[in-house]
Amino acid sequence: MIPLDVHVIRDEIPVPRPDLPIEGRATRTDSYPVAIVTGTDATADRLTALAPQGRMAIVTDETVAALHVRPLVEALDRRGITSTVKAIPPGEGSKALATAVGLLDDLAHSSVGRRDLLVACGGGVVLDTAGWVASAYMRGIPYANVPTTLLGAVDAAIGGKVAVDHTVAKNLIGAFYQPVGVVSNIEYLTTLPGRQIRAGLAEVIKKGMIASPELFTAIETDLEAILAQDTGALDRLVRSASATKCALVARDPYENDLRRPLNFGHTVGHAVETVTGYGPVLHGEAVAFGMAVAARISLSRGWISPGVCDRLVTLLHRTGLPHAIGQLGAEVDPDAVVAALGKIRLIRAGRLRFVLPLDVGTVAIADDVGDEEIHRALHAPVPTGLAR
Ligand SMILES: NC(=O)c1ccc[n+]([C@@H]2O[C@H](COP(=O)([O-])OP(=O)(O)OC[C@H]3O[C@@H](n4cnc5c(N)ncnc54)[C@H](O)[C@@H]3O)[C@@H](O)[C@H]2O)c1
Ligand SMILES: [Zn+2]
Repeated sequence: MIPLDVHVIRDEIPVPRPDLPIEGRATRTDSYPVAIVTGTDATADRLTALAPQGRMAIVTDETVAALHVRPLVEALDRRGITSTVKAIPPGEGSKALATAVGLLDDLAHSSVGRRDLLVACGGGVVLDTAGWVASAYMRGIPYANVPTTLLGAVDAAIGGKVAVDHTVAKNLIGAFYQPVGVVSNIEYLTTLPGRQIRAGLAEVIKKGMIASPELFTAIETDLEAILAQDTGALDRLVRSASATKCALVARDPYENDLRRPLNFGHTVGHAVETVTGYGPVLHGEAVAFGMAVAARISLSRGWISPGVCDRLVTLLHRTGLPHAIGQLGAEVDPDAVVAALGKIRLIRAGRLRFVLPLDVGTVAIADDVGDEEIHRALHAPVPTGLAR
């Protein structure tokens, strides 16, 4: 006799008729809370709620480890959570297969199992690398993002795009793998160098420009307090920007549509990063310049009013972000940028997509922008009144 408490599974899957197609199916809906908090205790509370087994493996970088991780581990310990910490060297160089393999080795030799939580605590480099490791280890273990840079909080932590770089291309080896939660502790952002705040702000200005006039105006109003790293202003900024990013990615979470407003500023931005070798110009700085170039292309087509174009460039300027080629932190040859764009055009069957702003909150996607137009916009001088 089988005891009553034994779970019995009975099934009758039919053998299909030979003429019928066989279809593999896997649907799932992922949703996760994005919490914006202030302080280590609040961060530990949120993380504890995401780790039912009471165990975590924290991945961070050495800079963040020295600044913030010990108090977090202690706060988790007080809540009965056992955690291990692995710190990778800071910088884009760590976003590599070799780092990921090292982390996978560590996990393999640890007691971390399928239901334990991997916590990615750091900037975009840590979030992308640890997220990809989480997607691969045991075919995917739960992970939570604890961003410590502004770019991390408003961008990399949300959307489930995880990857490491390859020498052939950035983000070449990756996946879509959603976190079980995001905990943004505003306090962490107060130790960031000003340049990192400004670079992160470029991605928020982008979100305002493509999708939220309200967010754009809020940045204009709060800018001085944000740049002074006032926690109240940063809290408002991260809250609005996170909500905007969530709304935008929810529309097309797996990026089936190539006409993505979120790419605003990124066509020229990526080309600038390529020609400068991903180092001297930060991603946000390249995107800021890319947004100014796209706005000028739009202006020359008569698609955007001079007033709106000025409004964007003025905000970039006030933020201390580059909006003219001579302001990039490296010598950039416009011909090299156009050549890099030409390569992308070739790869994409002759089409180069530009997100062109029409107004604050409205964009158009154009695939007919020519080299001449790009050249003119790249060469545009710094507007009078905005010389630094
Ligand atoms: N997955 C996505 O959707 C997505 C989106 C945007 C960017 N990214 C990726 O993010 C990466 C860039 O992220 P990033 O700009 O955060 O860079 P990063 O992770 O390299 O961090 C920048 C620097 O700040 C330091 N740092 C981090 N937190 C700090 C803190 N609180 N105080 C002081 N210093 C701190 C880091 O050690 C590092 O030196 C890129 O690889 C990019 O591809 C991913
Ligand atoms: Zn970006």
